[in-house]
Amino acid sequence: MTKGNVAVLLSGRGSNFTAMVRDARKADANYAVRLVISDQENAPGLRKAAALGIPGYCLPRERFKDRDEQEREMVSMLEREGIELVCLAGYMRLIGPELLKQFSGRIMNIHPSLLPACPGLHAQRQALRLGQKISGCTVHFVDAGLDSGPIILQQAVRIRDDDSEDSLSRRILRQEHRIYPRAIRLYFSGRLQIRGRRVIIGNK
Ligand code: GRF
Repeated sequence: MTKGNVAVLLSGRGSNFTAMVRDARKADANYAVRLVISDQENAPGLRKAAALGIPGYCLPRERFKDRDEQEREMVSMLEREGIELVCLAGYMRLIGPELLKQFSGRIMNIHPSLLPACPGLHAQRQALRLGQKISGCTVHFVDAGLDSGPIILQQAVRIRDDDSEDSLSRRILRQEHRIYPRAIRLYFSGRLQIRGRRVIIGNK
């Protein structure tokens, strides 16, 4: 089976990245994680990449005049490696026009809420403050907005009366690790079709 080529962009911990690599290494996986790019030199995700034997690169914000210049460098790296799908996993910067135009419809993100509820930072804290009974996580295609592109998969997580931000985040994260790899597999099976705001999941 030829495998789809995935790159991961991250800024921090890298647990979604690790979950993807584990899934990609299963015999029936239709994709491989080829490289990781971080915009933070000290991202634990880069150390995890090294431990997993995945090439990791750092393109720190400070090294570039602006986001466009940083993204042009990123695009040439991604194209050189034959990357077909870019997965944001805790990447703490909005994607700009340089990356969007080269990878239009080929960038995914994971967010720890049922979008469009609770976009942006501290989604789990927002859900608790709003008194929601249910939250969850969302994998979506990326557009120029904040957590606003077409939704691919969502998983609901019940909020308990005694939940703290930490306990809720942990339960949501477990679901993130399941649905992100699933969305990538669907993508490389050719089953995702974007129709306006909606993503239609076709049959095998
Ligand atoms: C996850 O909660 C993800 O939904 C959000 O950032 C966090 C990244 O965690 N976008 P990790 O770096 O994958 O552990």
